[in-house]
Amino acid sequence: MIASKPLERDHIKHPINLASKTFTANKYVYYAWLREEAPVYKGKLSIISAYFLSRYDDCVHMLKDPRFVRNRATATGGGRLPFPLPKSVALMAQSMIVEDEPEHRRLRTLVHQAFTPRALAHLEERIERLTHDLLDTAERQGPVDLIQAYALPIPVTVIKELMGVSDEDMPKFRTSIRALTDGLTRWSLFRTMFWDLRHAVTFVREMIARKRLDPRDDILTRLIQAEEQGERLSEDELVSMIFLLIFAGYETTVHLITNAVVTLLQHPEQLAQLRAQPELMTSAVEEILRYNGPVQGTKPGYAIENVTLHGVTIRKGSAVMPLLGAANRDETVFADPEIFDITRSPNKHLGFGQGIHYCLGAPLARMETRIALKNLLERSPNLRLAVEPMALKVQTIPLWHRYERLPVMLG
Ligand code: HEM
Repeated sequence: MIASKPLERDHIKHPINLASKTFTANKYVYYAWLREEAPVYKGKLSIISAYFLSRYDDCVHMLKDPRFVRNRATATGGGRLPFPLPKSVALMAQSMIVEDEPEHRRLRTLVHQAFTPRALAHLEERIERLTHDLLDTAERQGPVDLIQAYALPIPVTVIKELMGVSDEDMPKFRTSIRALTDGLTRWSLFRTMFWDLRHAVTFVREMIARKRLDPRDDILTRLIQAEEQGERLSEDELVSMIFLLIFAGYETTVHLITNAVVTLLQHPEQLAQLRAQPELMTSAVEEILRYNGPVQGTKPGYAIENVTLHGVTIRKGSAVMPLLGAANRDETVFADPEIFDITRSPNKHLGFGQGIHYCLGAPLARMETRIALKNLLERSPNLRLAVEPMALKVQTIPLWHRYERLPVMLG
């Protein structure tokens, strides 16, 4: 359950741990305290120590500062990860999101073209149809979990089609992605790391083998061709890239759509305004990304030298995490940041990150969420929660803001 009584600032326990239940239930109270009292704070992410940055300007600067690198080995002289992992998991942890230039650019260039708004235009009609089909089914039920019935199948189908996963591969594809999702919850971490992810890697390698025999006009084919031409992409990099695209493009979108619906239901006057002025949809999606975005922080950057900020010296090799969710409520940048305002303009939120790792899929995520919300609101003028608001459970997964279920009544 979400804590019913908001945490008092004086009761904040130190060191702050992003993986704790108290933090999850009160993250915006913690963020306000961090911004004001400790803009560079040495805290914990589970058992790992890291410096948290919570002010907007500090996050933006850090994400563009070459003194912070993604590849841990460059900064520490040790391994890429703080602890050894099985090869299957290590492959997933080695994608371009944890690379620096020039490696990062080499990899990003291979997929960038497929994600421009122009390249994605043809998907608009497909997403329209898909959302209507899903609503046709959901409307026949009583209360539905909107995540399972709607928010989840949209990005799964879109990623499947973009990547060029065949219908026969789809059940295994979904099982593999589920392994990634489950891996985020603590209880199944061990099983996931040592069992499910190995199967997921085997499956991706089999999928690549089948695609080599049946090339089509899709991202997977293009990546395989780049790999076959040598030099540009190794087979391990190919596997890592596929995982990154699946993972980055699927969970995030599920929870952006879900958070959008929750946030609008929590703010009925904003929902009414959006219904009355559907042309506000684009700015409403931006405000949801700012106010309740699914991704609350980036991957850590590692200091390659001692860096002093606000009087705190971050030692060479230390991990630094810009807390995007905290930056997005910085009162020096956003007027009345605790107010959810779908007409907010300008709205330079950091919900998609910043710098060279700025979200590759932002145009796609915006399109999916816009269409999903538009059709849901149009077809469901009486959309409402099917449970008490307090029963909505925020999952304790560091650097995310996501709900476990979203039971609603359509109609
Ligand atoms: C729906 C909401 C989404 C949100 C809130 C989101 C958020 C983000 C954020 C914050 C980053 C930066 C992470 C960092 O610096 O460590 C990022 C990177 C990335 N996102 Fe998204 N994302 C979303 C959807 C997507 C989609 C649909 C795709 C495409 C399939 C995608 C692909 C990526 C990739 C590949 C990166 C890494 C880019 C790089 O390292 O250069 N994302 N995303």
